[in-house]
Amino acid sequence: KQTIKEILQDYKKVLHHDITVYGWVKSFRANRFIALNDGSTINNLQIVVDFENFDKEIINKISTASSLKVIGEVVESQGAGQTVEIIAKKIIILGDNFTEELQNTILQPKKHSLEKLREQAHLRFRTNLFGAVFRVRHAVTFAIHSFFTKNHFFNIHTPIITGADAEGAGEMFGLTSFDLNNVPKTEDGQVDYSQDFFGKQTNLTVSGQLEGETAAMGLGRIYTFGPTFRAENSNTTRHLAEFWMVEPEVAFNNLEDNIDLAEDFLKYVIQYVLDNCKDDLEFLDKRFAEEQKSKPEKERAKEGLIEKLQNVVAKRFMRVSYTEAIDILLNSKENKKGKFQFPIESWGADLQSEHERFLVEKHFESPVVLFDYPKDIKAFYMRLNDDNKTVRAMDVLFPGIGEIIGGSEREERIEVLRQKMKEMHVEEEELWWYMDTRKFGSVPHAGFGLGLERLILFVTGMTNIRDVIPFPRTPKSAEF
Ligand code: 4AD
Ligand code: MG
Repeated sequence: KQTIKEILQDYKKVLHHDITVYGWVKSFRANRFIALNDGSTINNLQIVVDFENFDKEIINKISTASSLKVIGEVVESQGAGQTVEIIAKKIIILGDNFTEELQNTILQPKKHSLEKLREQAHLRFRTNLFGAVFRVRHAVTFAIHSFFTKNHFFNIHTPIITGADAEGAGEMFGLTSFDLNNVPKTEDGQVDYSQDFFGKQTNLTVSGQLEGETAAMGLGRIYTFGPTFRAENSNTTRHLAEFWMVEPEVAFNNLEDNIDLAEDFLKYVIQYVLDNCKDDLEFLDKRFAEEQKSKPEKERAKEGLIEKLQNVVAKRFMRVSYTEAIDILLNSKENKKGKFQFPIESWGADLQSEHERFLVEKHFESPVVLFDYPKDIKAFYMRLNDDNKTVRAMDVLFPGIGEIIGGSEREERIEVLRQKMKEMHVEEEELWWYMDTRKFGSVPHAGFGLGLERLILFVTGMTNIRDVIPFPRTPKSAEF
């Protein structure tokens, strides 16, 4: 069996031959032209039906969204925009439509809002837009594995069920193993969580980093790639309760190496998409341009989508310390005139996405890597600088997105780590296995986490994170 993508790519091989194709009907014009699509590409294959000489019963049943098996001859196409088409000899309807119910779905051929499409996430795979987005998502995933493999990293599968709070932020979904119809209670009538997960307190992982660090302490260069879960009640276009994270961890790397790795990595993946997703990107680029037209002139993007991706790959990212960034923000017109929702008052402030986007979009007009953050606003495992105030943290900030990567050089000195954990109320006993890595041949090391969906937002030009993951889980939606 050949996909439509293969047929269109290698059409010379099948020209003037009879072939079989499968797909869904995108449109059926003039009882004569069927645009057939099987999801392998954004491009449709045109099926030409000789209406006068064809089984009328079958023709009457064909409508948008029905699925077909078509046998016919491949010929050169007279029409614009397509090299070949198929003169149908036989059409078999695999699935026709419950026409009345179809009227209430997003499969009905007209323009639907993204909100409406989200409500029918199970059907949106059929649309051009979501076909393009999810094919690009696959390409990004493949490029990630390819980048790390080329650079001698090993993929490590870290657990989804864990007892650790890797970020120390307490934003975890707990697990229960008890019978929900017979919830165990303590003497005072509270739910008895001591019976969680066969007697242990466990949660869904917020990050594979800590386990990843232990692997890097033996395998050298590793990366994790898996789902992570955050029980934060953030209803924004950048947050999901379940998202996919890529976390490289490298023994013997310092912060500079880590920043270099992040920059090379992002550029490799974006370039891969530019090289391998041309048709989908062109479609997304047009959609992006269309969307800009409906915005007030001030808010319109200065570059097209493809242009934006090319520019990010071409330029070196700006590297700026947190302290410099705070100075820039404190002295900005925006801060002085009270334009920020959260005004920056002094060194030590946590940066909000409005500040990150100001730095990237207005001040530097380039992706920015911020480093050396105050220790109080970052996680316990980050390496303390000699100033005793800052840690070797880094965030990569992207236009239109804000933080896309967060990482650091790790605290490899056990005494300093112990002290930090104490200050931040992280229990050493619970992380005894993590502490072991610092006891037996501890080495400097560094790593970071990329939010996969944030990168997909960037490369597809989509603006809501719910539209780049097949089934978004957010505080307000996780129905199925
Ligand atoms: O900055 P975060 O919380 O860092 C960590 O989890 C570290 N353990 C990473 C490491 O050093 N190995 O998350 C990393 C990235 C963020 O930069 C962001 O892109 C993404 O994960 N992210 C989210 N994406 C979607 N929804 C959320 N709720 C996210 N929270 C973080
Ligand atoms: Mg972060």
